[in-house]
Amino acid sequence: MKRLFCVVMIVGIVSVLSAVASAQVKKGKTRVLTTKQMMSGLIKPNCAGIGEGLKAAPADDKAWDELATKAALLNESSFILMDDGRCPDAEWANASKALRDGSATVLTKIEAKDYAGAQEAFKVVTGSCAACHKAHKK
Ligand code: HEC
Repeated sequence: MKRLFCVVMIVGIVSVLSAVASAQVKKGKTRVLTTKQMMSGLIKPNCAGIGEGLKAAPADDKAWDELATKAALLNESSFILMDDGRCPDAEWANASKALRDGSATVLTKIEAKDYAGAQEAFKVVTGSCAACHKAHKK
C-alpha cells in the first residue's frame, strides 16, 4: 500500500513538472504571446527577410535600412525568448545567446554596408534556429 502511494506520488510529481516545462517552452508565465506566434509573426519573417535581402548586395540606403530594422527586431526577439520564464534549459539559453550575438553582428555589418560580413554573420543566426529547434521544436 505504501509502495503504491509512492508510485502514485512520483507519477504525479513527474506529470506536474513536465506540464510546467512544456508551458514554459510554448509560452511565458504571464504574457500572452505564444512561442509559436513569436516564431511565425516576428522571428521567421525577419529572418527570411534578411536571407532574401542578402541574396545580392543591397541596392541603396533604403534596402540597407530595411535590413537593419530586421536585424534589430531579431536581436530583440532573443531577449523575449529569455523573458517571462519561457526558457526551460541551457540549450535554449545558449541558442538565444547565439541569436542575440549573431543578429547584433549582422546589424553592425549592415550599418557598415559590409555585404560579405553580413552574410557571414547571418550563418550564426540561422545556426541558432537549428540548435534550439533540434532540442525543443516537436
Ligand atoms: C531558443 C529557442 C528557439 C530559437 C532560437 C528559435 N526557435 Fe523557432 N521555435 C522554437 C520552438 C520551441 C518552436 C515550437 C513552438 C510551438 O509549436 O509551440 C519553434 C517553432 C518555429 C516555427 C514554426 C512556427 C509555427 O507556426 O508552427 C518557425 C517558422 C520557427 N520556429 C522559425 C525560427 C527561426 C527562423 C529561427 C531563427 C532565426 C528560430 N525559429 C529560432 C524555438 C526556437
